[in-house]
Amino acid sequence: MSAGAGHPDDPVSRAEDEGAHEPPSLRDRLRALPTFAPGLPTLDPDATPSDPATLFRAWIEEAIDAGVPLPHAMTLATAGASGEVHARTVILKDVDPSGWWFATGSSSPKARDLAENPHAALTFLWPALGRQVRVIGPVTPAAPATSTADFLARSEGSRAAALVGHQSEALTSRQEYRDAFAGALARVQRGPTLVEPTWTAYALAPTSVEFWQASDDRGQTRLRYRTVGHDWEKGLLWP
Ligand SMILES: Cc1cc2nc3c(=O)[nH]c(=O)nc-3n(C[C@H](O)[C@H](O)[C@H](O)COP(=O)(O)O)c2cc1C
Repeated sequence: MSAGAGHPDDPVSRAEDEGAHEPPSLRDRLRALPTFAPGLPTLDPDATPSDPATLFRAWIEEAIDAGVPLPHAMTLATAGASGEVHARTVILKDVDPSGWWFATGSSSPKARDLAENPHAALTFLWPALGRQVRVIGPVTPAAPATSTADFLARSEGSRAAALVGHQSEALTSRQEYRDAFAGALARVQRGPTLVEPTWTAYALAPTSVEFWQASDDRGQTRLRYRTVGHDWEKGLLWP
């Protein structure tokens, strides 16, 4: 069937129609958004390991396999001595017996917060799997050799970006940054073993790790591991 004049598929009548109505408000659009697609995995608390790192590793491997964009991106929340809370995205570098690893410059605001108050929180969101993980605990800077190794494992561009420094300070112009970056890149290319001395790897040693799983019937499951002495205690939380 062809779309004749006045048919809703006709671009003219569609434009008139759109002009006649207010576009939906952001508030309405936000409330109309779907949450998770069907076909989510499930979380059976009785089948979970005794330590959270093992379950976390399984979940992030599943997020990688599922093609979740940036599955290793996590929100790091910190609060310095003033109590003002700051949150930003950083990249997870590893999970090992020391904890959940990330890296940044020791003169950045987040590092200053951590120097004043080591307690921090990490949050991962893997929407395609209906999963969130929250990790809480104190953060410790690594020994210099570990930070150096992390720095040297970065790409040339990432090393140059770190060498530029001044993270989160006010910038006068984009050109000022471009010039600084070009200079840093040239230094990295001339000296492949050059290390930015403030670059620091940090490990968050968890005292609590919570796994949140949405389900197709909307009954979420929350499983929290907490340290009790040297052991982990597992328990369910009300969603
Ligand atoms: C996807 C993504 C990954 C990021 N990873 C890091 C990172 O691993 N380390 C880092 O210092 N900043 C990273 N950033 C930048 C931080 O979010 C932040 O802008 C910067 O570190 C300054 O934070 P601060 O002022 O709170 O110290 C990342 C940003 C995004 C969007």
